[in-house]
Amino acid sequence: MSRPPLRIAVLISGRGSNMAAIARQCGAGLLNARLQAVIADRPGAAGLDAARALGIATQVVPWQGPPQRPAFEHALAVALAATNPELIVLAGFMRILSPQFVAARAGRILNIHPSLLPKYTGLHTHRRVLEAGDRVHGASVHFVTEELDGGPLVLQSRIAVSPADTEESLSARVQATEHIIYPRVIGWLADGRLAWRQDRPWLDGRRLDAPLVEDFSADHT
Ligand code: GAR
Repeated sequence: MSRPPLRIAVLISGRGSNMAAIARQCGAGLLNARLQAVIADRPGAAGLDAARALGIATQVVPWQGPPQRPAFEHALAVALAATNPELIVLAGFMRILSPQFVAARAGRILNIHPSLLPKYTGLHTHRRVLEAGDRVHGASVHFVTEELDGGPLVLQSRIAVSPADTEESLSARVQATEHIIYPRVIGWLADGRLAWRQDRPWLDGRRLDAPLVEDFSADHT
């Protein structure tokens, strides 16, 4: 029996290339999901135009600084409730969500982060990889919990870092892998293969205690 498409809301702050990659896969019938809405915390987020061009409804819930966080999250909750998503996808959404907001949606928020978590939580991951002289780098898809960039990992991409790499080249190569692994994880959810039970991700009936890793180190761009 075929499942109805998974209803998704995507939260963005910037370019929205991950959102567009997910939308393309939905459009191509490769992902049994539907982007109900793209919500940005900045009216100038370039991803809003990209979403409109793809025919996806957009909303802006403007971020007005830390003292306004409760009002921001209330407005975000209202915007989300209007589209009633089964899954909230953070795709370059650069705001920290409060423990209360996350707890109310446990197991229903995914994030992608440009590092091999638990290494390099936070910002400037590519620069920090270069400064540390790491030979491998990548991106991580994880469920969002109260701990910043600390929720259970599902899938990571791995790339090789070469001596010629710059922040820009690493960013481009890591992002190209993000556009593959993020739709992959969403597809597992949409197909009922990935589930959230007992505060952990389960894939194909097995508890995921460590992330799966997809190795892109042979790819050169
Ligand atoms: C992505 O590389 C994503 O991993 C990163 O922002 C970029 C957004 O790109 N997210 C974070 O740093 C979250 N901590 P996009 O807007 O083109 O999808």
